[in-house]
Amino acid sequence: MANQTGRRIVIEPPPLRPLKGYASGKLLLGPGPTNVAQRVADASQPMISHGDPSSFKLLLKETKLGLRYVFQTRNEFTFAITSSGTGAMEATVANILEDGDVFLVAVHGLWGQRAVDMGKAHGAKVVQLHAPTFGAVIDGKQFEEALARHRPKLMYVCHGDSTTGTLQPLEGLGAMCRKYNCLLMVDAIASLLSAPVPMDDLGIDVLLTASQKALNVQPGLAPISFSDGAIQVIQQRKSPLKTYYFDIMKIADNWQCNGKAYFHHTQAISLIKALHESLVMITEASSLEAIISHQNEVSHYLQSKLEQLGLVLLVKKAQHRLPSVIVVQVPEAIDGHKVQLKLLADHGIEIAGGLGGLPPKGQIWRIGLMGASATRANCDALLAALKSVLVPTSKL
Ligand code: GLV
Repeated sequence: MANQTGRRIVIEPPPLRPLKGYASGKLLLGPGPTNVAQRVADASQPMISHGDPSSFKLLLKETKLGLRYVFQTRNEFTFAITSSGTGAMEATVANILEDGDVFLVAVHGLWGQRAVDMGKAHGAKVVQLHAPTFGAVIDGKQFEEALARHRPKLMYVCHGDSTTGTLQPLEGLGAMCRKYNCLLMVDAIASLLSAPVPMDDLGIDVLLTASQKALNVQPGLAPISFSDGAIQVIQQRKSPLKTYYFDIMKIADNWQCNGKAYFHHTQAISLIKALHESLVMITEASSLEAIISHQNEVSHYLQSKLEQLGLVLLVKKAQHRLPSVIVVQVPEAIDGHKVQLKLLADHGIEIAGGLGGLPPKGQIWRIGLMGASATRANCDALLAALKSVLVPTSKL
C-alpha cells in the first residue's frame, strides 16, 4: 500500500513468540478469569461448524439445557451471548428499555454504577438506590418504597458485587416487582454457584452471568435467561432497537430457541464447547446445593484464617459477604499493590486489588474462590504465600 508521498508503508513482522514459552500456569485467585480445567480446555477442540447441522444443533440444545439447570429455570430463552458479562447487561438494558422508561438500579458497588451508565446511554430515566456504605447491602423496605414511588419498567440488582464483596439478598424482590409491574434483572456474574439463585422460584425476569467466573470457562460468553414476561416486553417495543449485535430475539434465533436455525453472527463455537463441558462437570456433582455448600465451607475457612492473621474484611456482616469474592482491607502500613505483585512474581498466585476506585488501588485485596478454585489446598497455598510476603514488610 502507498501513502500520499508515494512511498510504500511496510509493517515488518514483530518478534512474537509462541505463548507456551512464557505463559506459565499461575494460580488465579482473583474474581475471574479463573483457571480452566484441562477437560474444559480440551473440549474446545476439534472445531465444528454451524454449517454442520446435527453436531451444532446438539451442542446448542445441550448447552441450553445445562444453563437452564444451573439457573433453575424453565425459560425457553436461555442461552449465552458472545460477549463478556457487561455485554449481557447492556443487551438487557438495550432490549427492554425505551427512551424515557424508568430504570431503577440498586448500587452496592461498581456494577450498579455501570448499570446506571448503561441506562443513561440508552435514554432511560435512571433512579439509583444506594447501599449506605461500601460493604453494606440495600434493605428490602427501600426496594419496596422505590418501586412504589418511581414505578420503573426494569430494576437491576447485582446479586454479588465483586468490587465490594457484598451479597445482596434477593428474597421477596420478585414478588415486589410483580406487584409494581416491573421486570427484575439480576446480575449473578460473580455470585453464581456460591449462593443459590433459583431464577423461577425467585421470580427473576432476566438472569445473567459470565463464563470466566464460577463456570471456570475461558472469558467470552455471557449466559443469560429471559422470562416469558421479559420476552413479551421486548416483542412489544414501540421504538426500534438501537443495537444490531445485541438484538435478543435474533440471538435467540441464533441459538435455535424458536426451533428454527438463523444466522445472526458466528458463534464462539469453541467457547460453547468448553461451556458445555463445564456444564457436564456441574451435572456430575450430586446437586447444585452440594456445590454451593462446598464453596461456602471453603470460603468460611479462608475468611476465618484471614481474620486469624489479623486482617479485616470489608463486609462486616457475615451474612452479607459474597462467598466467591472475599474483600480484605489492606492494613495501613502495607502497600497492597506491592503485595499482589510479589504474590504473583514469587508464588505464582494472583489476587486482585480494587476496581473502579472502589476502594482505591492498594487499599483492598479481592480474593476469588470461584467454582473449582474453591479448595482448601488453594486457600492454604495462598495463606502460606501471604504470610511469607507479609512478614518482612509488616507487623502482622
Ligand atoms: C471483574 O469482574 C472484577 O470483579 O474484577
